[in-house]
Amino acid sequence: MDVLGKLKLVESELASILQKNGITMPKTAIVLGSGLGDVADAIVEPFVVSYGDLADFPVSTAPGHKGRFVFGKLGDTPVVIMQGRVHYYEGYPMSDVVLPVRVLALSGVENFVLTNAAGGLQDGMQIGDLMMITDHISTFVPSPLIGPNVDELGLRFPDMTHVYDVEYQDILRAAAEKTDQKLLEGIYAQFTGPHFETPTEIRLFGKLGVDVVGMSTVVEAIALRHMGKRVAGVSLVSNIAAGMSDELLCGDDVIDSGLIAGPRMTALLTEAVTHFA
Ligand code: HPA
Repeated sequence: MDVLGKLKLVESELASILQKNGITMPKTAIVLGSGLGDVADAIVEPFVVSYGDLADFPVSTAPGHKGRFVFGKLGDTPVVIMQGRVHYYEGYPMSDVVLPVRVLALSGVENFVLTNAAGGLQDGMQIGDLMMITDHISTFVPSPLIGPNVDELGLRFPDMTHVYDVEYQDILRAAAEKTDQKLLEGIYAQFTGPHFETPTEIRLFGKLGVDVVGMSTVVEAIALRHMGKRVAGVSLVSNIAAGMSDELLCGDDVIDSGLIAGPRMTALLTEAVTHFA
């Protein structure tokens, strides 16, 4: 099946589940990164659709990823939360990695907040810090748009000048102030993983202007901008990048830092989404 055929199939399956249960598709989606799944606990009267309930939907195998959509209100704002995503390192083709966000976009979601756990390079960064993504480097992973262009989704050569919506960046800054917390800003670079970087690679990426490194988000942001959707991004610093501290890196860091920073991320996003169009 081609990319569009598969998207439409999953979209119609999701639509029929929602229709049967009287749920309308909200305008805003939040994708929760590794370790951040607890943010979904803030949803009032959640309606859950497991990815496994949708035929042909890629199911996440990453730790800390529940693999489901949670529909409901965050504060007073209707949202859909993706509690878990799939990663390129799990072996899925890029078209499957971006399928979940594309399905939501096709279903009528206009605004996307992409979150992730990331390794921090920026001077002074600490585990548990939140960083608003102002731009990204996609150069080290294949584009999700490789292959025949799906004209129904967007242009062959989409502009990437303002991937992270400038107005939504202002909203996030204001939300950080209102919820009385520090929000760093910087550049996210995506790598395939699943191995972490070497200290030499991290020194190189630091010279390239990278502030945090991770294994997700950028390809989703590209697929969504291709479709003309509005994107915001927030990273949780789950560890200091390789070779920049005395610690060795471990996959469990994302879970531990998620527990520390989950409530702050929830407060930030609950405030921010009230101001999204
Ligand atoms: N590198 C890459 N991906 C990551 C890291 C890291 O240090 N931490 C969390 N995701």
